[in-house]
Amino acid sequence: MALEKTVYIGTYIHSESLTKVDVAVDGSIGVGEDGKIAFVLRDTTEVPEGWRNAKVIRTQDHGFFFPGFIDTHIHASQYPNAGVFGNSTLLDWLNTYTFPLESSFNNLDNAARVYNRVVARTLSHGTTTACYFATTHVPATNLLADICQARGQRAFVGRVCMDRMSPDYYRDESVEVAVDASRQCIDHVMKIDPAFDLITPVITPRFAPSCTAEVMAALGKLHQETGVPCQTHISENKAECALVKELFPQSASYTHVYDEAGLLTAKTILAHAVHLGVDERALIKARDAKISHCPASNTALTSGAARVKTMLSEGLTVGLGTDVSGGYTCSILAEAREAIFVSRHVAMTDGDEAKLTVEEALYLATRGGARVVGLEDRIGGFEVGKDWDAQMVTLSSVEDAGVIDQHAGPVEIFGGESWEDKVAKWVYTGDDRNTTAVWVNGRLVHSREGLKL
Ligand code: GUN
Ligand code: FE
Repeated sequence: MALEKTVYIGTYIHSESLTKVDVAVDGSIGVGEDGKIAFVLRDTTEVPEGWRNAKVIRTQDHGFFFPGFIDTHIHASQYPNAGVFGNSTLLDWLNTYTFPLESSFNNLDNAARVYNRVVARTLSHGTTTACYFATTHVPATNLLADICQARGQRAFVGRVCMDRMSPDYYRDESVEVAVDASRQCIDHVMKIDPAFDLITPVITPRFAPSCTAEVMAALGKLHQETGVPCQTHISENKAECALVKELFPQSASYTHVYDEAGLLTAKTILAHAVHLGVDERALIKARDAKISHCPASNTALTSGAARVKTMLSEGLTVGLGTDVSGGYTCSILAEAREAIFVSRHVAMTDGDEAKLTVEEALYLATRGGARVVGLEDRIGGFEVGKDWDAQMVTLSSVEDAGVIDQHAGPVEIFGGESWEDKVAKWVYTGDDRNTTAVWVNGRLVHSREGLKL
């Protein structure tokens, strides 16, 4: 679908570094017919030669353009259970809530209903890239890839592999089944998006307790042979860590289990990383594997508090993951908030250096996530040559609106706030009502009802 050359005029904000957010007041960004950024101008809303006939989209009402969010870990199939976890912890939560739900994706109508909803909702929260766990079902996993492509969300789509310690009704029968099904899902994406431009398949061993050494080794081989990325869980909960020790007595650590299977590489995303030892973090760094930090889920399932600042200071690459439905929200904005608050609880015992700032949380939500998924050259910020994966944020003003009607966002701007304060208000009090439009690779993929662009 051909895109219209467009100039985005107004304030744009993105992360300049882990600790600094760059605010360019009244700038302009040109996006070509290929969906890529052709120019970025600070301090001027002038449109350059050759762009005078381009479509113009302006920020509205104290608004700004911000890079699309990157959710580095979300279970699309678990979306119907968001908010449902009771007082459970990981291992009983899986058996009580998760496996029964995931097993229902043998029904494609059910899968279509849930997957359409989760893609629409994550887009509405500004998530332009998502790393999805689907289920063990090949047709439903392929349908998720189709839906992401049709709705225009950049996505990593993984068929879940699990050949033990799972119920009889929801388990791979053999190593061959797991590998063959994974191959079928890779082949499907190669058919619908041969260059993996928007959709990328991802090899997905669920986690070490539900995978035999044989299946992990076979998936490690597939990972090395195809170059297709890999995602899994690691060191989320203490009982899980004890179980891994018992199941893999030969291995020096949980991290070594994946490394010995050939699953720990620069293209591996490890979710949680709550209870990692120093040696494990060093091994992850040596392999350049990536971390998805999932604070909402870690709190909900009382898994623990990941030491994010420690991991960052040691040079690990970290992004944010909602981990629906261990996490209750599919909003990365909410996840950023959770990350900040969990870090403050850590700081109460470990000291102030454990605290994440608003700037750091926004970095994790964008640039950090881009590095986690290996797309830092394409997404995460506004530079010439990058894809226009962006959201338009509106901070509705009570003054301007007179009354807060249903279309007004919840962020209250009284006038006179610094940009730093506006961004903080967005992070702490904003939600999807503030995300008025969303683009992926230049294509409009979501806009709020009634919005005139
Ligand atoms: N570990 C293995 N499976 C899962 C899952 O579905 N969610 C979370 N949070 N952890 C897991
Ligand atoms: Fe998870």
